[in-house]
Amino acid sequence: MAATRTLSHTVAVIKINNPPVNALSTPVCQALIKELAEVKKDPSVEAIVLCGANGKFSAGADIREFSSAARRTVSLEDINAEIESTTKPVVAAIEGVALGGGLELALSCHYRVAHIKTVMGLPEVLIGILPAAGGTQRLPRLIGIPAALDIIVRGRHVPATEAFQLGIVDEVVPSSAIAAAVQMARKVIGKPMDSRRLSTNAVQYNINVDAFLDTALEKAKRQFRGAQAPLACIEAVRASAQLPYQRGIEKERQLFASLWATGQPQAQQYAFFSERNVGKWTLPSGERWDNVRPCQIRTAAVIGLGTMGRGIVTSLSKSNIPVIALEQDTKQLDSGKKAVNSLLEREAEKLKKQGNSFAEGNGLGSVHFTLNFEDLKNVDLVIEAVYENMNLKKDIFRKLSSIMKPDAFLCTNTSGLNIDEIASVTNRPQLVIGTHFFSPANIMRLLEVVRGRHTSPTTIATAMSLGKMLGKVAVLVGNCPLFVGNRMLGPYLEQANYLLEEGYYPEEVDQALEEFGFAMGPFRMMDLAGLDVGWRSRMEKGLAGSGVPPGTPARQREGNRYCPLADMLCELGRFGQKSGKGWYQYEKPGGRHAHPDPWVRDFLAKYRKTYNIKQQAVHPEQILQRCLYALINEGFRVLEDGIASGPEDIDVIYNNGYGWPKHRGGPMYYASAVGLHEVLMVLEGYHKANPDVPSMKPSFLLKKLAAVGGPPIKEWRTQLGKLPNKL
Ligand code: 3HC
Ligand code: NAI
Repeated sequence: MAATRTLSHTVAVIKINNPPVNALSTPVCQALIKELAEVKKDPSVEAIVLCGANGKFSAGADIREFSSAARRTVSLEDINAEIESTTKPVVAAIEGVALGGGLELALSCHYRVAHIKTVMGLPEVLIGILPAAGGTQRLPRLIGIPAALDIIVRGRHVPATEAFQLGIVDEVVPSSAIAAAVQMARKVIGKPMDSRRLSTNAVQYNINVDAFLDTALEKAKRQFRGAQAPLACIEAVRASAQLPYQRGIEKERQLFASLWATGQPQAQQYAFFSERNVGKWTLPSGERWDNVRPCQIRTAAVIGLGTMGRGIVTSLSKSNIPVIALEQDTKQLDSGKKAVNSLLEREAEKLKKQGNSFAEGNGLGSVHFTLNFEDLKNVDLVIEAVYENMNLKKDIFRKLSSIMKPDAFLCTNTSGLNIDEIASVTNRPQLVIGTHFFSPANIMRLLEVVRGRHTSPTTIATAMSLGKMLGKVAVLVGNCPLFVGNRMLGPYLEQANYLLEEGYYPEEVDQALEEFGFAMGPFRMMDLAGLDVGWRSRMEKGLAGSGVPPGTPARQREGNRYCPLADMLCELGRFGQKSGKGWYQYEKPGGRHAHPDPWVRDFLAKYRKTYNIKQQAVHPEQILQRCLYALINEGFRVLEDGIASGPEDIDVIYNNGYGWPKHRGGPMYYASAVGLHEVLMVLEGYHKANPDVPSMKPSFLLKKLAAVGGPPIKEWRTQLGKLPNKL
């Protein structure tokens, strides 16, 4: 039964029942229409309470129905209009979540009571659409333009206490919202209802709405870089102030249709479901997310409190896991402690604003700082985050192996070293796993969980479950140099560097990729991460510095093209933001504002002259093609090698760890949207002209998929099934 009905004296309680989140699917909508019609004509019913089963009001429209062949036959706004016009008062009893169409349904009720732990909001913008069941017209009428705009454009979850302060709900209760709603329904029987019908009210404002929304529009264009949904949301809110309700609804519908035509909603909804699917890992041996139990992690330790360690400690602590934080000397320990404390204070502040607070004994209090490895011996799991150096990591793992209890999990935050080599020095390689966080680790949602050859399914389940506890999206990947995300970044950055040799400036390449939607172009990103990191690694590999064999041409390594520009900057002490100079100049070392540097222009001009590089006419469109297709081609190789289970895994990694614009779905989704044949043609053309750039040689899998007509992304797995799986 999609909706059930009971009677409490003269109050009918209609309960939506569609596990797990009471999505408003077509059967639910049909059931609601039927129940409403019956209670309206039932003389024994004087008021109605609308609620959801299993402690959840509703997470909104059923997103799966948007792209399914069986498009909706029932409009949610028609149901809302029906509820609002009912002469018997309707009270929404909101528990758990009231999101999207769920909140829109509640807004059509005449009163709203919420449980104190509920979150509500209109997050449609996050899946590429706008609230399309009257939300953009009713919410501004209830709480005014600025507050409504903030909720609709950011798609944020509003806690019940804030919703009460804003006037979205009439009452917040610590116990059953349904019981409280029934009580309220009884009280309001017979009271005048006109002012409670939001669609009949005018939007109240004392601001210049157009000027306010124009400013918001400009800001959103800058902030959301090509995503259309936030802009449509603003226009819909404008309609609420300018047009009568019905015309506003028409505008809402129109905007929804034009958004759908952009293809962005499809990409964002693919990203939404991919994020949920990557948690459902499967090993070739048959062990899966639902048949292997994770171990409980009651205590954890972090070794190294540098850039990453301090964020990881904060993340654990904020999730209520007591942490022991270890450093190598007092100076580093003090600096790490200060940093962690300040991060935790900020977290506490954020929670306070949301009406929550750290419970006694949580957060700040749960971090113990130490220099003594012996203190770690009883923790359930340790995450090592010391310098990226194999020998150092092996020393640490040897020590951990001898000190820690035999069933403790040993995790490394290495960004690309061999997990098997690290595990080889321990007495428990089955409990060793990579947990690759992204910087800043307390904020970035991505966690690459890297399986070594001996890592046990229980260890995988535990690391994946830890990711969930920390509020991250954990993606299981195989062990290869640089794993998935960083591995794909290599060819992308390589092309960005070649473009500089060929005549572009860092700011031009960055601009093209930022206009595409990346949070940051490649050169700003390298400056932020520190150019010295890559330089050290290239020196270790003998690609830069004194390890390069004498007589090697500056722009060649092992017979292939090589760009030494980044090495040259590092030799001059230009490490990026940290030194105040890199591909850009900054106001001071550690400064954040990148300014194009005339010195870099001069340096590039001299470089091109020295090596007699002719400036080639590269069309700006080619900046995108070369950088993105290089990245995508490596993505296909990752799949070919069985390092990621499917294209969705790669896309989730890029969407959550590398600032890929979500409205484009992820690099592999983008490739399928552009057309695999098109990607292949460009790569083939480039590789033919540049055989000394092996990363651009089209991958076997891309060729294979293009040869079978470039099937939609959801069908790629059929071809992948025939390839090796290294998970
Ligand atoms: N439609 C269809 N399926 C949904 C759904 C929805 N609105 N919301 C969640 N689900 C599914 C998930 O895909 C998942 O399915 P699975 O078990 O098969 O993987 C299951 O419900 C549980 O979801 P989560 O794993 O995300 O569970 P959490 O407890 O972590 O989060 C949630 C719950 C906060 C409700 C989260 O799922 C969420 O944010 N959902 C989307 C909410 C949303 O965007 N609503 C707007 C929908 S569009 C709309 O209403 C249009 C309207 O304006 C007309
Ligand atoms: P960092 O240089 O900022 O910090 C390393 C910390 O380890 C220092 O505080 C140092 O004192 C401590 N340390 C060194 N030897 C130690 C020992 N024997 N015992 C205890 N502490 C010791 O390094 P960062 O950037 O935090 O990187 C740490 C690890 O995380 C590396 O493996 C790196 O590759 C990886 N990583 C880094 C990312 C980044 O953006 N910085 C992103 C993802 C992973």
